[in-house]
Amino acid sequence: MLRWPGAGVKAIQASQGWRDLKIGLIGGTGQEGRGLAMQLALAGHDIVIGSRDEGRAIETARELADTCGSENIAENFTGADNMSAAAQCEVAFLTVPYSGMLSVLQSISRQLRGKVCVNTVAPLEVVSGQVRGIAPPTGSAAEEADREVPDARWVAAFHTVPARGLLRPGSRLNTDALVCSDDEEALKTVVQLANEMQGIRGVNAGALENARYLEGATALLININRIYNAHGSIKVVGI
Ligand SMILES: NC(=O)c1ccc[n+]([C@@H]2O[C@H](COP(=O)([O-])OP(=O)(O)OC[C@H]3O[C@@H](n4cnc5c(N)ncnc54)[C@H](OP(=O)(O)O)[C@@H]3O)[C@@H](O)[C@H]2O)c1
Repeated sequence: MLRWPGAGVKAIQASQGWRDLKIGLIGGTGQEGRGLAMQLALAGHDIVIGSRDEGRAIETARELADTCGSENIAENFTGADNMSAAAQCEVAFLTVPYSGMLSVLQSISRQLRGKVCVNTVAPLEVVSGQVRGIAPPTGSAAEEADREVPDARWVAAFHTVPARGLLRPGSRLNTDALVCSDDEEALKTVVQLANEMQGIRGVNAGALENARYLEGATALLININRIYNAHGSIKVVGI
């Protein structure tokens, strides 16, 4: 299937024109990875679920294929260890907890070189029942990842999009994915990917250093959801 008009595709491989992408989910066996994988597969992209354990990745890919409700889309899911997923994909999503982020990146840095990499990681801790943001020395996990793998084209996004909603595509989230990057074409690519997901609007949220506000807003959002016993998300009005 050929799609993807506009500048986003230029960011990937201008010579190949409009087309679907091979997308790797690093740590894709968790809730966030599964949810993004489901949405991206429904949009027509090929998905490779990554894990520290190849068997777990293959099993997750099989489960997602079983639940997606369409034979055509089921074929879009495969699984591999994180290094192989990073090597195979054109766009990588990093969906591991902050505690594992640097070790995973160190193990796949060569495979990520030159690729658009979407960092969803929000560094959080729970103190006395409250969720708090942890401020990394660089200001954000996104900038820390950029420092660790500077050859990748880093984009921070999807922090405030709850996995629960992504995993239930029919539920029409009606939310925004706020997208930060210093790489204009990579940012456009990820805004486009977000726009392809059901009920999600991609919003340009500026430079990668703005990721610190996104990561912090995640803690706030979780605390609000706890107070209201809800699954709210964030939408910017007036734009
Ligand atoms: N859950 C949400 O609603 C949500 C929303 C927005 C953003 N996020 C962000 O997305 C990321 C993933 O969230 P999640 O809820 O999916 O987390 P998770 O289930 O705790 O972890 C995701 C996967 O990461 C791998 N992993 C766990 N610990 C690791 C470590 N120490 N080193 C390397 N890999 C490790 C595991 O895969 P394997 O064991 O198979 O390798 C696990 O299945 C987090 O950084 C979170 O802040 C989450």
